[in-house]
Amino acid sequence: MVYTIGKVTMDNQTGGVKRKSDDTTSQGFTPVYDMVKAVGSKLSILTAKSLKGFMLNLSVDAEDSEYLNLHGKRFKDPVTNFILKFVILTSTPNRELGYYNNVFKASETHSSFFEESRLQQYIWKKSITSGRPAICPSVANLSMFDTVNSARLMWFFLRKVNTDPTTAYVFHFLLNSSKINESGIGLLVMPTITQSTTLEHFLALDEGSVFFGKVITEDDKYYAISNVFAQIVRLFIEIGVIHFDLHPRNIMIYLTPDNEIKTLLIDFGRASNIMNGEPDTHLNILQKEELILKKKKYYDYFLHNAPSNDIKEIEKLKYMQTVIDYIAETEFLINNPKYYRDGRTYQMSWYAKYREYYDLTDTSTILEYARLFINAFDILAEMAVLDGNRTGIASTTIQAYERNGSFINLDNPDGFNSFIVPFPEPIPMRVPIDEIQFSAPRVFLPPPLDERLIPANVTAQPLLPPVPSNVNAESLLPPVPEEAVPSNVDAEPLLPHAPEEAVSSNVKAESLLPPVSEVPVPPVPEVPGPSNVDGGTKQTRTRVTRKNKRHKTNKRKKSKTKKNKRNQNKNTKKKRKN
Ligand SMILES: Nc1ncnc2c1ncn2[C@@H]1O[C@H](COP(=O)(O)OP(=O)(O)O)[C@@H](O)[C@H]1O
Ligand SMILES: [Mg+2]
Repeated sequence: MVYTIGKVTMDNQTGGVKRKSDDTTSQGFTPVYDMVKAVGSKLSILTAKSLKGFMLNLSVDAEDSEYLNLHGKRFKDPVTNFILKFVILTSTPNRELGYYNNVFKASETHSSFFEESRLQQYIWKKSITSGRPAICPSVANLSMFDTVNSARLMWFFLRKVNTDPTTAYVFHFLLNSSKINESGIGLLVMPTITQSTTLEHFLALDEGSVFFGKVITEDDKYYAISNVFAQIVRLFIEIGVIHFDLHPRNIMIYLTPDNEIKTLLIDFGRASNIMNGEPDTHLNILQKEELILKKKKYYDYFLHNAPSNDIKEIEKLKYMQTVIDYIAETEFLINNPKYYRDGRTYQMSWYAKYREYYDLTDTSTILEYARLFINAFDILAEMAVLDGNRTGIASTTIQAYERNGSFINLDNPDGFNSFIVPFPEPIPMRVPIDEIQFSAPRVFLPPPLDERLIPANVTAQPLLPPVPSNVNAESLLPPVPEEAVPSNVDAEPLLPHAPEEAVSSNVKAESLLPPVSEVPVPPVPEVPGPSNVDGGTKQTRTRVTRKNKRHKTNKRKKSKTKKNKRNQNKNTKKKRKN
């Protein structure tokens, strides 16, 4: 089957944004507000299938964009596609919010959302200095709103999307959820990784599928995996960060304008910075100290050996396996007892497949897997070797941009408090209802939820707006099969850039447009929500440690020939190019 992901207009993929104007007077949420307000901008739901985030696409006309994309040494092209990550913020973590389209949702604390954004920007800044490629997208904007300002914000977004009931429902859900006492909404804005999909989806593509115009071969998949390995190692040895949630939907594969396959890591909601000298929810100081020693050892070895041409392939293989095994072990040791407690499941178990030679009888596959690591070493060397000749943005420039407000500065001593911002329009909360362009009856919002009425173990379903009698909710929102998306699983859809739920094409948009308080409600499943566990996708640990070596899994069925040679050719081709 030939599978076309689709072609979209793309910015140059260069990985990072800067404010267009140096005008530091328009701070806080204002630049995003201006873009959303622009007549030509469009908002649509991307996905909300994980525990916390609600992801939206924002596209803006080039002239309305407030941000420029990094291109080589300079920021020049306007960024026209953004991802908006909304979360509900509460003072205690994991507050249950009820079901959004069969997916159980929970809140985050202000500080964890802030730390996620801060870490993402820190990784981006560190990774790009001296002309190196980014490890993750940069942060354009972080804004947090108290309850009153969240309501204004949601009305603003509801007005924007009033002809798109599916997207409107997200804002309706957020509006109702943010009315819990002392809660609010957090919004992280970042550039869209253009021409991208998740590692999960990319690996599931059939051979011969078309990925943004490129026909994908098995070699391309191997090349993608080697790139992923290289970025994971960089994140640890260069930056000193363990991700702790590296399942294949938090790894993005993208196609550059030059048709090259590359990767970026996303979602630093659980990541830990081992270098910051502070204990966090995953690692105490002693654990961090131990990790720092390893990081230093691996980085020193790499810097010492990678630039020389005489490092043997077997050394490259051993090096990459040792470092990634160590990272995977660390993820496993922390994640399993915390979230799964079954001695097997963890986020990086997709990786174990590439370490399981023991049950394989097919030597060509064994060699292919070995080649993945050798290629990854070479990719790592291209990306991470500190090369004096490389041109790129200097760290002094980065600091200057942070000072003048061109880059968001998340190292502000006031911490998250300086990101709690007002909604820019000084309108009273309930006025906008009169301004809504469609003929909505004057229905006001339900009163704020009285927290005391909801025991902690009960999902907050009463928060959901009522199902309108004149709209067939099922036809709008097809129920997700239970097996496909278990409610406690962080399962993004396979096609992340398609709209989440397509409204059936034979229904007129106007006739779908319900009054704001009557946005269609998805069917609420009868099963109770999961226990209060911040569960990521279940990934089953098959083998990383020696203990598990005899466990049979993931036998590769296809026999492959000459792959090894082709990979090697590719490798030499790449080298020649440089
Ligand atoms: N910058 C981005 N560009 C393109 N897609 C993105 C980007 N950030 C997130 N996504 C998509 O949104 C999904 C969820 O994002 P993520 O940050 O992992 O949120 P969550 O914490 O809700 O899991 C990802 O799996 C990916 O498909
Ligand atoms: Mg995620």
